[in-house]
Amino acid sequence: MAVTSRTRVGIVGAGPAGLLLAHLLALHGIESVVVESRSRAYCEARQRAGLLEAGTVELLRAVGLGKRLDAEGMQHGGIYLQFEGERHHLDFRLLTDGRWVTIYAQTEIVRDMIAARLAAGGVIEFSASDVAVSQLTSDRPVLSYLDESGVAREVSCDVIAGCDGFHGICRPLIPGLSVYERVYPYAWLGILADAAPSTDELIYSRHPDGFALYSMRSPDVSRLYLQVAPDEPVEDWPDDRIWAELQKRFAIDGWSVSEGAVTDKSVTAMRSFVAGPMRHGRLFLAGDAAHIVPPTGAKGLNLAFSDVIVLAGALRAALLGRSWELADTYSATCLERVWRATHFSWWMTSMLHVAPGQDPFESQLQLAQLRYVTSSRAAAVSLAENYSGYKPLRFEFSA
Ligand code: APR
Ligand code: PHB
Repeated sequence: MAVTSRTRVGIVGAGPAGLLLAHLLALHGIESVVVESRSRAYCEARQRAGLLEAGTVELLRAVGLGKRLDAEGMQHGGIYLQFEGERHHLDFRLLTDGRWVTIYAQTEIVRDMIAARLAAGGVIEFSASDVAVSQLTSDRPVLSYLDESGVAREVSCDVIAGCDGFHGICRPLIPGLSVYERVYPYAWLGILADAAPSTDELIYSRHPDGFALYSMRSPDVSRLYLQVAPDEPVEDWPDDRIWAELQKRFAIDGWSVSEGAVTDKSVTAMRSFVAGPMRHGRLFLAGDAAHIVPPTGAKGLNLAFSDVIVLAGALRAALLGRSWELADTYSATCLERVWRATHFSWWMTSMLHVAPGQDPFESQLQLAQLRYVTSSRAAAVSLAENYSGYKPLRFEFSA
């Protein structure tokens, strides 16, 4: 017999989406239980991207999650685009109404959110197994799982939030789902290195041998990526080979990538994926559970947070105000933003990567587009407003 309990919102997944949702609901006085299949240590160590739109930073500050972000985050007012051996700066502050972005690793945000939830007495069940959700079209959906000690538990909820990422269990439970997908013929090999970045802002470089991205985590730690084959074994990339390839793809006279000890190395596949509707009965999807963008546009985390802001508002109206109107428009509201970001991420990806055996016509189109965004103010404004956050969401939270 399972141990039964009751909460208002059952949340599957303690990634950025699930954790932020639990936090925002608590600010509205709405109780939740988060169930996560991985351990806390695993969730806190997972390396992901680290670029936050200004709107995301403002939200995190407003809800009391900005302390370490403000101390350790690095504000950037633009990016560099490099191609044909030349580096061009795009100044977002001049191209937009003064907008900026912040480098702060997703791993750190996850740590901050877990600490805040636990300090506030929130429930996060890590290392759960056999996680399942049922009775989604009733007004008491059920979240069931085996807890860390193997005890069977059943939580009766008002609503379930599927924040369980791309490989989660919730999305397949939505009947009549439409799925749109593009798998790219390349992947990113990402490294973390103990090396002071030799650039002040991110460099996106298109090189005939493939794309490279120069990012960072702190004044002493660099985060670098190389385009590689989709099935590339990480073992084929000893540190010397990585540095040589990075030096080549970022080469500029009188400048070099600063090298250091490599502390993390992994390969990430590149895909665009959108599934809708993001709701079925009392089940709502948020974040990577419903959509994936390739990391070139740095939109993944920001999009997940946008879903969660909309969902927290809709659940407040439904559970406290008994109005389901916002819940009814949740999917359409989110998908509009998701498709804008999907287009932007696909466009950045397609402009900067060189596919294996690429048609020379395609290469000339990419270069023409890169010359256009680095010479036309109109084109640069479009890139800058998408990158720094198109139509930032308004929110009403305060910690
Ligand atoms: N039961 C419980 N938890 C699960 C299950 C399951 N069956 N399946 C997956 N999970 C957990 C995963 O272990 C993970 O911790 O759900 C969480 C999903 O987190 P993310 O994959 O980080 O997705 P999300 O919270 O939507 O965050 C989106 O992550 O991939 C990046 O670029 C993306 O920055 C974006 C962000
Ligand atoms: C990162 O810092 O990890 C990062 C930054 C920008 C991107 C992708 C990843 O576009």
